[in-house]
Amino acid sequence: AICQGKAFRAFTEQYPFLCHGLSLSIGSPSPLDEAFVRRLKLFLKQHGIRGYSEHLSYCSDDGHLYDLMPIPFTEEAVHYVAARIRRVQDILEQPIAMENVSYYAAPGKEMDEIDFINSVLAEADCRLLLDVNNVYVNSINHHYDARDFIRRLPAERVSYLHVAGHYQEAEDLIVDTHGADVIDPVWQLLDATYELLGPVPTLLERDFNIPPLPELLTEVDIIIAMQQQHEKNRSPISRRA
Ligand SMILES: [Fe+2]
Repeated sequence: AICQGKAFRAFTEQYPFLCHGLSLSIGSPSPLDEAFVRRLKLFLKQHGIRGYSEHLSYCSDDGHLYDLMPIPFTEEAVHYVAARIRRVQDILEQPIAMENVSYYAAPGKEMDEIDFINSVLAEADCRLLLDVNNVYVNSINHHYDARDFIRRLPAERVSYLHVAGHYQEAEDLIVDTHGADVIDPVWQLLDATYELLGPVPTLLERDFNIPPLPELLTEVDIIIAMQQQHEKNRSPISRRA
C-alpha cells in the first residue's frame, strides 16, 4: 500500500487533482460514516487534492450496493441530507460539490427535482457538480425541459460539469450508463450550459465500451473547441472571476 501511495503521489505532485467519491452515501438511512470522512480528509491533505465531489443520492444501508439510489424529494429529506453535507464539510473544513444524479423512480415525491436540489444546495451551502447528461436523461424519463432546469440552478454554486453518453432503452426511457458516445442533443445542452455559465471545467465520463484513445479524445476536442468558442464570446466585462 505504501508503494501504491508513493506512485500515486508522483502523479498528484505533478498534476492538479479532483476526487469524485462513490461511497459517502449522503442520503443513507444509516449514520454518516464519519470514520471514512476523517480518512478522506487525511487523503485529500496528503495529496493536495483541490476538491471533492459526491452524488446527491445514497448507495448503502447496512452494506454497500454500489448503485445510486434516489433520495425522496421531500422537505424532510432536504433537512436530513443538508445536515449531513454540512457535517462532512465541517469535518473536511472545505466545501464539497454534490452531483445531480439520474433516477428512474421517485419514491415518496412531494416536490419537483429542481426544488429539491436547490433547497439542499442552499441549506447545506455546498457546491454543485452539474452532470449535463443526467439532466438530459432525467428530462426525457420524467418529461421536463432540460434547458429550463439548468437555467433554474444556482450558477454561482457550479464547480464543474460532467458530460457522458447513455443507453437508449426505448424512445421514452434512457439509461445513464457512461458506455456510449455523447449524443447530439447532449452536446447542444452542454453548449447551452456554457452559454449560461461560461466555459466552466468539464469532465468527460466513460466507464466501459471504451474506444481507442484517439477516438475518445475527439470528444474531449469537441469540449475544448466549445469552451474556446464561449471564451471568445464573453467580453472581459461579463467574464466571471
Ligand atoms: Fe456524472
